[in-house]
Amino acid sequence: MKSNLSIHSRKDDHLIINSQKDVISSNTTGLEKFRLIHNALPEINLLDVDPSVKIFGKKLSLPLMISSMTGGTKKASEINQILAHSAQKYDIAMGVGSQRIGIENKRSMETFKVRKFAPDILLFSNIGAIQLNYGFTIDDCKKTVDAINSDALILHLNPLQEALMGNGNTNFSGILKKIEMVCKNLEVPVVVKEVGWGISSQVAKSLIDAGVQAIDVAGAGGTSWSEVEKYRITNPSGKRIAEGYRDWGISTSEAIINIRKEQRDTLIFASGGLQDGVDVIKSIALGANLGGVARKFLIAAMNSQEELDETIEEFSKQIQITMFAIGVKEIDAISTANIRRIE
Ligand SMILES: Cc1cc2nc3c(=O)[nH]c(=O)nc-3n(C[C@H](O)[C@H](O)[C@H](O)COP(=O)(O)O)c2cc1C
Repeated sequence: MKSNLSIHSRKDDHLIINSQKDVISSNTTGLEKFRLIHNALPEINLLDVDPSVKIFGKKLSLPLMISSMTGGTKKASEINQILAHSAQKYDIAMGVGSQRIGIENKRSMETFKVRKFAPDILLFSNIGAIQLNYGFTIDDCKKTVDAINSDALILHLNPLQEALMGNGNTNFSGILKKIEMVCKNLEVPVVVKEVGWGISSQVAKSLIDAGVQAIDVAGAGGTSWSEVEKYRITNPSGKRIAEGYRDWGISTSEAIINIRKEQRDTLIFASGGLQDGVDVIKSIALGANLGGVARKFLIAAMNSQEELDETIEEFSKQIQITMFAIGVKEIDAISTANIRRIE
């Protein structure tokens, strides 16, 4: 098991690299290949547009979440506070970053405790599913939820990142069975996400059959973790290996479409490269229930609380204007009839 010190510096490296380097996938979300269909006669009042959604019994004012990012260090704690303040202010969902470090070191868990800043939000715990093969138990999963009083647990799948990381945890055999055990034994819903390379319809099916209640596609087109790790790898050969994966992955749009084709009722969170409110509504038209944003919100939060608020406010306005411009008053009314593929 790696020392807390190495996880510690990795967490701060991730914040610095993501905010200062170009780590964007050379794959695209695919959302640019779709256009929402303009409605010149919407027959609704913009003021009546209601973008709220209900997820796991909680009402969100917007179909939006701040994707899982950070925790574990002083800087990360400050960022989590800023993210939580905005999540509460705009009544959107938020995930904290991997709480592994908090399980291994109780004091670190404090950096994930955002409930006091966001008493009402839909809050997600987070841990790498791979940890279930490296000593983490169902009890540890319960602790990640109880420690921060979250509403659900996100397990992230990141095989490629672990493989590129240099001494990453790469034994993924038997993980599905363990995810199933977590789903059976936790009192809160379990969500599974990728970290930016997408989830196929086959993998989604296995996860849903195992009891997972929502899939966050975390598709390709945004932050590329092979690029992030490339900046952390010091030897030239390792960097060249990582470089080969810049365009890797299932794009965000492809993942949503393929999963929704086979899963009529499963909750799907769209994330990976979403840039604005139009992207959120496009994702919903393709079959998602909610859009998630990581790096863009992180960069704003690292600048200031005000900048993050402004960014979320822009998402909010665009979501409402976009709904108005396609002539729908409610999120549930958005469907594939509102979007078409161009080319
Ligand atoms: C600084 C940073 C740290 C992240 N840490 C985690 C993590 O601990 N757990 C996780 O599930 N995903 C993590 N992610 C991945 C994001 O949740 C998201 O899936 C990915 O960045 C794609 O979204 P984006 O293109 O909007 O950045 C992290 C992303 C960033 C930018």
